[in-house]
Amino acid sequence: MDSAPRTPVTAVIVVAAGSGQRLGYGMPKAKVPLGGDSILTHALRGVAAAGVARQICVAIPPGDPELHALCAAFEQELKGERGRTPGLGDGVQVPVVTIVDGGASRADSVRAALAALLPDTEVVMVHDAARALTPEAVFHRVSHALAAGALAVIPVLPVVDTVKTVEPTTGDGAAIAPELVTGTAPRETLRAVQTPQGFELATLKRAHEAAGGFDAGQAAAVTDDAMLVELLGVPVYAVRGASQSLKITTPLDLILAEGLLEGPLGARWVEG
Ligand code: C5P
Repeated sequence: MDSAPRTPVTAVIVVAAGSGQRLGYGMPKAKVPLGGDSILTHALRGVAAAGVARQICVAIPPGDPELHALCAAFEQELKGERGRTPGLGDGVQVPVVTIVDGGASRADSVRAALAALLPDTEVVMVHDAARALTPEAVFHRVSHALAAGALAVIPVLPVVDTVKTVEPTTGDGAAIAPELVTGTAPRETLRAVQTPQGFELATLKRAHEAAGGFDAGQAAAVTDDAMLVELLGVPVYAVRGASQSLKITTPLDLILAEGLLEGPLGARWVEG
């Protein structure tokens, strides 16, 4: 008898409405070229290839015809030519693609996408387009934890650097250095958090509704969805992420991502 839990009906929200200023390309990060395609196209293909999504809901900057066209082209690719979408072989479900206008903050973009999910959606993953090379295995680990009953699950990696807290120096210290170290975090309990972050849909909706009353400072401090769920007191579980899931943020990240796609080191980076 097969005792594997049923996979819940899953939507993947891809947030791609950021400005990408730190990358220095003068255009939204989602459009920036990577290995001959855009960052967003790589991200969308990765989601589709994982085969977990019944719907992919993409949040893009409002009124951006180029990103709209990129999403539409991806949808055609899915519908028309399975062979062109890497990993989308027989047996992988072809997801519905929905495009929404993102908001001023990442959380606003997530809320816009949540409002556009198909009615019978049971679980949702929220994924940064900037993590364009996330391996399928990470989607599967998140999906399995949700199917096993987790209400919230995030992919993480151990932290390799020692992490300290600091505050700006004042008085005599200001002449010595800009910051004063105030403490050292215990590294063995720290994890660097990635996406896709998975949630039971009702739990994530409740978390975002609770955040609706935040003031500007509180809203700015929200850097992922799991934070909001933690504030509800709901347990958040962690599964193993992957180095390839790096968030393409700086020019150096883009060089790494290009190297992962086509460089001689590529194969050595592949993790389970
Ligand atoms: O700015 P940050 O690096 O935290 O952005 C993470 C992800 O959230 C990116 O994929 C970005 O496109 C997305 N985002 C968004 N809407 C915003 C800001 C960021 O969809 N207003």
